[in-house]
Amino acid sequence: MKRKDRDPKKGIGRREFHKTAVAAVGLSVVGPHIPAAQAATGGKAQVAQAAASAAARDPGSAGTFGIPDYAQHMLTSDMDGLGPDGKPTGQKATFTGASKADSTVENAAQHQMTLTEEEQAILDGKDGEEKAKLMKILVAFGNAFGAEKLVELGGAPHSNLYIGAPYLSSLIDMLQQCAEAGLKSYAPYTVNPRPYDVYNVQNNPTDMELIYQGYPEQMRLDWVHSKLGAPDLNYRTCACYIKDIGNAPEPGTYVAWCESSAVNYGNSVLGIRTNRYGAGMEMVCALLGKAPLFGLMTDEGRKAKWLIDVKTSKEPDWGVLGTAIGRKVVEDVPYIAGAEDYFGGEVTDDNWHKLKYMGSATAAAGAVGLYHVEGVTPDAKEKGRDLLAEGYETYVYDDKEQLAIIDSFENLWPEPDGDPTTAFIGCPHCNYEESVRWATMIIDALDKAGQEKTAIPVYIFMPTVVRTRILIENSELASRAKAAGVSYTNMCAVSYSGMKGFSERIRGVTNSAKNRNYSSIRYFPDQKLIDIILTGKV
Ligand code: F3S
Repeated sequence: MKRKDRDPKKGIGRREFHKTAVAAVGLSVVGPHIPAAQAATGGKAQVAQAAASAAARDPGSAGTFGIPDYAQHMLTSDMDGLGPDGKPTGQKATFTGASKADSTVENAAQHQMTLTEEEQAILDGKDGEEKAKLMKILVAFGNAFGAEKLVELGGAPHSNLYIGAPYLSSLIDMLQQCAEAGLKSYAPYTVNPRPYDVYNVQNNPTDMELIYQGYPEQMRLDWVHSKLGAPDLNYRTCACYIKDIGNAPEPGTYVAWCESSAVNYGNSVLGIRTNRYGAGMEMVCALLGKAPLFGLMTDEGRKAKWLIDVKTSKEPDWGVLGTAIGRKVVEDVPYIAGAEDYFGGEVTDDNWHKLKYMGSATAAAGAVGLYHVEGVTPDAKEKGRDLLAEGYETYVYDDKEQLAIIDSFENLWPEPDGDPTTAFIGCPHCNYEESVRWATMIIDALDKAGQEKTAIPVYIFMPTVVRTRILIENSELASRAKAAGVSYTNMCAVSYSGMKGFSERIRGVTNSAKNRNYSSIRYFPDQKLIDIILTGKV
């Protein structure tokens, strides 16, 4: 599969999502799933930032930086692998699919990638102090992962620096300095959803206080993104690749994305080539238009070390399957067989959500950045089982295994015996078709039961442009759903369900195994969720 040359206009995709010219650059770090309330305890992406900061401070030449004490785990991150029982196995992940878990800091720091004359000149300050620092960070990062060289990026970036929490102030400062120096992303880019919504959901005074205290940097962060190349908040979403957003680079395009679910979907279903970056590194890459070549960007790194043999007697529960795979393979690439029949040979706007929920669960329960589905995803269609690496292992996923995984899902509600209080649909964000399908399912069920309203509030998570499209194209459904208790909201579902204070008083239910993985919310299959939404009982 060949990489497409950079073409910013073409890379944006089917609909122009940003018409404004870009400004750009930055550096930051925050996990896609770290609510402000949890942020103080740290996250995996912070490790990358620590390394980046260390590299930026070091006055020595590329490849000779020292790793400070607080960043000694840079090469393994903080993600533990979990066994089928949900308990840690001790395996660590790097999110690249090319595990460096047994590397030492010293070994990694000795590696030196080859730079072109132009790259060396940038490193030496040809394009100014800010770009030189960015290049130094990028070279240090590439050296740590054993990359041989940098490659040009195409398509458009996607950033998951979306939380305006105090612990990100210094990173936002750096982004601001880059913007003020006139640096720009190589193409207009997309950004994850904001962590809260003050318009479409009910926020009481306590919630507003939490938002005010938890995200004091939100406006500044939004402004900085606007300067760097992501000006329109209506396009904020983690599902940047859906048609209404249009950030879906051509297959084979090198990009540097960092939202785990977007990386996972992009690599697997779009066929793009990106490693799984911690937020901040993707902005360094975006400002330079380059990334180190290693891991999931290479043919070798895209080979599967696991054959997942799906043998369930009927269609698998996609979120549970994804959780099982993530726990089993941690960050290796899985090749999934036995699922082709559920897609009719191709991924469409109506069935993509199966892969979205499965894939995002592999990325959350493990650290999977790429999977192949036999007969469905582009690499698998092209190469078939030649994608299996020598000595691959096999994991059989049958009805018994599915039940065992479901049994391992603990009830983490603050009051385990209480009734559910809130339903969360969509994490990652829903597209137009899925949003309409959920609203229709709820309204149909209410009609059948002779009910006007849902028993608990329902939040369907989607970008604003999708919400607007529903209001225009499906206004009757939208108004009925709203009157019945269904809200369409553009924020991040995990940030909301995990928000301090809110999370401690709600008993949430969801269709997202990813959300279940990161919060106290409980996971249920679609039909069971509809029953809960109507009755208010589990
Ligand atoms: Fe999207 Fe937030 Fe879930 S960014 S994938 S809704 S964690």
